Amino acid sequence: GPMPATALSKRSIEDLSQDELANKRVLVRADFNVPLKDGQITDDTRIRATLPTIRYLIDRNAKVILASHLGRPKGKSPETSLAPVAKRLSELLGREVKLAPDVIGDEVTSLVHGMKAGDVVLLENVRWYPEEEKNDPEFAKQLAELAEVYVNDAFGTAHRAHASTAGVAKHLPAVAGFLLHKEIDVMGKALEAPERPFVAIIGGSKVSSKIGVLKNLIDKVDRLVIGGGMIFTFLKAQGLEVGKSLVEDDKLDLARDLMKRAKEKGVEFVLPLDILVAKSITSEVAEDTVDIAAIPADLMGVDVGPLTIDRLKQVLGDAKTVIWNGPMGVFENPAFAEGTRAVAQILADRTAHGAITIVGGGDSVAAVESMGLADKFTHVSTGGGASLEFLEGLELPGVAALSAK
Ligand code: 3PG
Repeated sequence: GPMPATALSKRSIEDLSQDELANKRVLVRADFNVPLKDGQITDDTRIRATLPTIRYLIDRNAKVILASHLGRPKGKSPETSLAPVAKRLSELLGREVKLAPDVIGDEVTSLVHGMKAGDVVLLENVRWYPEEEKNDPEFAKQLAELAEVYVNDAFGTAHRAHASTAGVAKHLPAVAGFLLHKEIDVMGKALEAPERPFVAIIGGSKVSSKIGVLKNLIDKVDRLVIGGGMIFTFLKAQGLEVGKSLVEDDKLDLARDLMKRAKEKGVEFVLPLDILVAKSITSEVAEDTVDIAAIPADLMGVDVGPLTIDRLKQVLGDAKTVIWNGPMGVFENPAFAEGTRAVAQILADRTAHGAITIVGGGDSVAAVESMGLADKFTHVSTGGGASLEFLEGLELPGVAALSAK
């Protein structure tokens, strides 16, 4: 069929010839910004997601120089060293991954010039240099001088115009790695040429952080399901009492506009039917489950109720493409996680029946992973902010910077 408009128009790793890789120093920007607890990696999904690119380069006798940020350090600090990542990568690859003592400088230069075909070196945290986030041209040039080819596989950081994600691409042949390519392809196809019915489920606490996504998706989907704390801004916009629930009073007009736009477009706008109400988001139990028109003045909504879950089974029952971003309720609290859990299970079931199911965005991804359902979806994005911006229809600087096909 025709290529979807967002299919990657950039060179990708498979477009590089054998000669462009063999014995060449290849700088790979990855997103190894993984969660750590007491120096231990608690979720290595992002590391594992980059293995196909690294293995492909090793197999083609490249010298692989990996770069990433970790956290948001202010200068060099041992707590933000990539040492735990080097260790985990060595285990996963079954070969030594040498951690460079720094990002740039003489020591690093001599280290990479001593590399042999198939060697893997991990540079230290690129954000140890403030020049990284400023996309400083001189710093970008120094990074580029370490290598002969640049591969960007850091989808999770593709929404940042930083030296290692954008600036460096000016100086080298710059191509997309397998992970970046896959993320853009799967989500791009869903947005531009979805199999229908196409349903989006947008949750999370605030309308304000999802405005761009809601606006972009309303023009594309057949049904739009609203979940999470932002439910109550939409309910209040319809004149309902929402008690102590989270509400953004300055977004009521916007909420009304979005519902109006959905109506004009013939998009089914799906709000909950019933709500779990509690004294606080940290309460151990809900006080009650009530109709959306009967939220008590002294309680707050914390999750969707069983009638809503039944309704979602219908709404999603024949869906061929589903994009999910943001939890349905306060899922970090086990007492209020059922709505999110139910959606994850309904979508896992849809996947098994051939639908394309995509989970994007930090919180819903965390939910799906904590339920052990990550492999039951067509695609679980490794991007938080990046997938949000992609779903908003924005161009990602890390992608824009790559060499054209
Ligand atoms: C992320 O975790 O979303 C990315 O690694 C980007 O990190 P940042 O928000 O600190 O730029």
